[in-house]
Amino acid sequence: MKALLISNDERLQAELAAQGSARLPALQLSAGRRDLRDAVERVLPAPPELVLFDASEVEPPQAQLLESLARHYPDASFILLTRAPQHELLIRAMRVGMREVLPLPLVHRALHEALDRIEIERGVTAVREGKALAFMSCKGGSGATFLATNFGYALAALAGRKVLLLDLHGQFGDATLYVSDQKPAMTLSDICSQIGRLDAAFLESCLVHVAPGYGVLGAADDPTMAMQMKPDHIDAILRVARQHYDYVLLDVGRQIDALSLRALDQADAIYPVLQLALPDIRDGRRLLDIFRSLGYPAGRTRLIVNRYEKGGKLRLADLEQALGAEVLHTVPNDYLSATDSVNQGIPLLQLARHSPVARSLAELVEAVTERRLPESKGLFDRLFGRAEAEH
Ligand SMILES: Nc1ncnc2c1ncn2[C@@H]1O[C@H](COP(=O)(O)OP(=O)(O)O)[C@@H](O)[C@H]1O
Ligand SMILES: [Mg+2]
Repeated sequence: MKALLISNDERLQAELAAQGSARLPALQLSAGRRDLRDAVERVLPAPPELVLFDASEVEPPQAQLLESLARHYPDASFILLTRAPQHELLIRAMRVGMREVLPLPLVHRALHEALDRIEIERGVTAVREGKALAFMSCKGGSGATFLATNFGYALAALAGRKVLLLDLHGQFGDATLYVSDQKPAMTLSDICSQIGRLDAAFLESCLVHVAPGYGVLGAADDPTMAMQMKPDHIDAILRVARQHYDYVLLDVGRQIDALSLRALDQADAIYPVLQLALPDIRDGRRLLDIFRSLGYPAGRTRLIVNRYEKGGKLRLADLEQALGAEVLHTVPNDYLSATDSVNQGIPLLQLARHSPVARSLAELVEAVTERRLPESKGLFDRLFGRAEAEH
């Protein structure tokens, strides 16, 4: 989107430019005006899609220019930024249809949420046909949550995809904590209990935003609420999610119940995560037997072997034979990086971008998106090459 920024605060200008360029698609500050009068006197020949208006220093006589501004750009969306609430100005703004108001200093998350709402409303974010990918843990602690949450970050950060992760645990869901220090204000059960309100903007507003283009919906944290969630709710959420995200990742855990089954029925691919050890393989086998009895096509289920170390007694081929499923990917064992990332709630790619697990996640992005992107080399350079330059 192209935006006009009305502000004479240079720091704010730089901040908005940086936040805007980090978005996908980028928000371009294509023009600037000092204040409202300047904006009304020098109207842009090509109207902007968005007007960001810093209303901190508007004197009452100037406020009436707001109506002219709205008339000049009838098709634009507006975001008002203001240091102190100014009732008269806000009422005027509401009258001319300006709905988004953000307090200053700028809270980045609030800005991105407002921009997300505007993009969805304007159809900037085209309707997508997102893929739903389910991650299941064969044995507790296999690493399904760790891989799903970090893979989501990698898809958004490396491949520029718009990604949503749903934590489907009925109890003890921990996905948000793996990649964020924010506590979710709303969770899956909140959405289910207000399912009539569900649309893209509502869904987006319930997410913990981990990075531009990557949000996580926390698991139900109250078991009594979780009991009221229905399989039909999962259908509805997935339908909306697929339309607005390129990838919808499902952290299913190990539980097979009415809700997780509905999610698995809908999944385009199921990735059981397991380690190359007999207990994992035993449980993996049971899981795959269930999938077969449900009539899932064999190709839908592909294994991810976590904490893989070459040269062990069990070989990948043995695993594939025992489970009758193909191994999609292996992820190396890297205790220190994984533990650091999980403990701090910072995505592994951010914290240890040169680690073997980071590289493995980047490869998984290529495998899942089925593209060796032309910028792939650049991508690896960006991730790993810069390390050499820095040291
Ligand atoms: N590739 C890896 N190397 C080392 N440790 C890992 C790796 N993957 C996951 N872990 C660790 O395993 C622990 C359990 O992972 P988790 O994702 O919670 O398992 P699950 O969701 O399958 O129960 C995490 O604390 C994480 O630090
Ligand atoms: Mg888990």
